[in-house]
Amino acid sequence: MAEKTFKRTTVTTALPYANGPIHIGHMAGVYVPADIYVRYLRLRGRDVMFVGGSDEHGVPVTIRARKEGITVQEVVDRYHNLIKDSFERFGISFDVYSRTTSDTHHRLAADFFRKLYDEGKLTEMESEQFYDEQTQHFLTDRNIRGECPRCHNLDAYGDQCEKCGATLSPEELINPYNAETGNPLVKRKTKHWYLPLDKDQPWLEKWILEDHKEWRPNVYGQCKSWLDGGLRPRAVTRDLDWGIPVPVEGAEGKVLYVWFDAPIGYISNTKELCDARPEKWGKWETWWKDEDTRLIHFIGKDNIVFHCIVFPAMLKAHGGYILPDNVPSNEFLNLEGNKISTSKNYAVWLNEYLDELPGRQDELRYVLTANAPETKDNDFTWADFQARCNNELVAVYGNFVNRALQLTQKYYEGVVPACGELTDFDRETLGEFKDVKEKLENLLENFKFREAQKEAMNLARIGNKYIADSEPWKIVKTDPERVKTIINISLQISANLAIAFLPFLPFSSERLRQMLAMDTLEWDRLGSTDLIAAGTTLPKPSLLFSKIEDETIQFQQQKLADTIKANEEANYKAPALKETITFDDFQKLDIRVGTVLECERVPKMKKLLKFKIADGLNNRTIVSGISQWYEPEQLIGKQVLFVANLAPREFKNGLVSEGMILSAENHDGTISVTTTEHPVKPGSMIS
Ligand code: 2FM
Ligand code: ZN
Repeated sequence: MAEKTFKRTTVTTALPYANGPIHIGHMAGVYVPADIYVRYLRLRGRDVMFVGGSDEHGVPVTIRARKEGITVQEVVDRYHNLIKDSFERFGISFDVYSRTTSDTHHRLAADFFRKLYDEGKLTEMESEQFYDEQTQHFLTDRNIRGECPRCHNLDAYGDQCEKCGATLSPEELINPYNAETGNPLVKRKTKHWYLPLDKDQPWLEKWILEDHKEWRPNVYGQCKSWLDGGLRPRAVTRDLDWGIPVPVEGAEGKVLYVWFDAPIGYISNTKELCDARPEKWGKWETWWKDEDTRLIHFIGKDNIVFHCIVFPAMLKAHGGYILPDNVPSNEFLNLEGNKISTSKNYAVWLNEYLDELPGRQDELRYVLTANAPETKDNDFTWADFQARCNNELVAVYGNFVNRALQLTQKYYEGVVPACGELTDFDRETLGEFKDVKEKLENLLENFKFREAQKEAMNLARIGNKYIADSEPWKIVKTDPERVKTIINISLQISANLAIAFLPFLPFSSERLRQMLAMDTLEWDRLGSTDLIAAGTTLPKPSLLFSKIEDETIQFQQQKLADTIKANEEANYKAPALKETITFDDFQKLDIRVGTVLECERVPKMKKLLKFKIADGLNNRTIVSGISQWYEPEQLIGKQVLFVANLAPREFKNGLVSEGMILSAENHDGTISVTTTEHPVKPGSMIS
């Protein structure tokens, strides 16, 4: 089948929940690749609209509001503004960034539902759901907790047990309760409207599995497994008091399911932009209903089913809309080996990054693309961030450009020298630039951003090698004409780099454009060798990239370590009680106070400390495995509690321990020896 050519492209990015700031996982998965793609399309002179916005409905924002003791509206206002601002500062070049609490959206989403309802495209069904009689609320799966039927963890979620990993449904939980109030739950009948996805199965199978074999394997594979499992009707309404009221009589207390209204948000936001600037954008329908428009959804992998199956089914049921042509979804980005989590505050938040590493947007854009989870989950580490910035951006790209500019300054007072006769080496080097435009275009058109950026960086490597191998500094006296050619070529390569990196690193490309005194950076001229005219005066050069210092990295690593520690402390649960014992059992234990007379390490047995304890009788030796937590000197003179009637235990090296020092094990595994509040006589009994 010949590939269809489109007149324009609508690019959407998943609407982030306005329940917290945006983090690097979101950026790597969705917004950076989408921004690269859109910038590229614009550079090619294509008609494109880049649509974003905040998802302000659903349970996550209501949970945050309750946690912080503020209204839901306050939560969404706060985070919508914060997210929007972070995107702007980071250079995500949305044409529109709106929100699902807007009037336009409420109207459009309600109308959408109403049309499906009026045309009998929704099914009404009653089902039993968990209900909290005290708060008079139905609960969503995630808000229900209870005992896991498999491992008996008392705090399993209604959809999953985090302890044993079992996938659950709320019905399976033993003694389900409201996660927020702790109230017990009962079952109650409720009515909802469903999208009968089972009826969509045949056309979805053809449309995805046959007509869109080109979708990324992770996307195609996930769709296939949903389809193979057989689609079932999906409720598109919920019993909640935050959201878009269901526009049907008898639906009081019900709102549209957030996953019904959120993707319609893409359309609402398009409409807002078109209504505000019709002279530039025309009618919103053109971007959503014209067969010559190509629709692309950038999303994370947890959103695949909604964008590839549910939303297309909604659009088709409504009628008149185009369907997505591609849904380039990434896998997940982890952080220092752990899952990024908004609720656990474990992330690199974009707003904090922008404040703490000011002016370093492109460094993060570069690393997130170099390490993008395009085909599998990937890990972001601060050490890798530093290495990529210092060894690639600074040492390769920055170094090359800096050399070219410095030498121009030094030899020609900043005036671009003319290019003379080319040598074979020059021709070979420039030859490598000839097809870079085509290569980059191919990769970018196919959403291979990681490879594309690598290709751009490869040009910088070629430039670096060119200047290093030509060694103009060695021949500046003996062959000045040759040096002019080398510098001219190096500057032309630099100009090419500014263009090639433009979709990826817009801030540094702009800086480089200024350093090279170029009026514009035109994609069509990528690969040319006459981008800067001889005789042009360049401004005094400054560094394109500067090193990331160790302290910066250590600060960020420490921040994450502190978060992990705080979470561990907050989540600490005392271990379950041991079996009950009788008073007689207890009395069998002879626990006493002893004074540490001597304490030393045990040769060849790293964990052990050997104590001489004054016990009021004959003194005794006790060996204890706590050397990791104490220096021997710290304990000398201290009074400790010990079990005095424990049978002696012999170690491999013949050492005999006559008792056991009692210590407490903290939540993080650290050890603290026990002592008495006031000094007492050695040998005093504990009772
Ligand atoms: O997963 C999420 O963060 C959702 N808020 C994404 C919604 S995408 C679209 F449907 F708006
Ligand atoms: Zn379990």
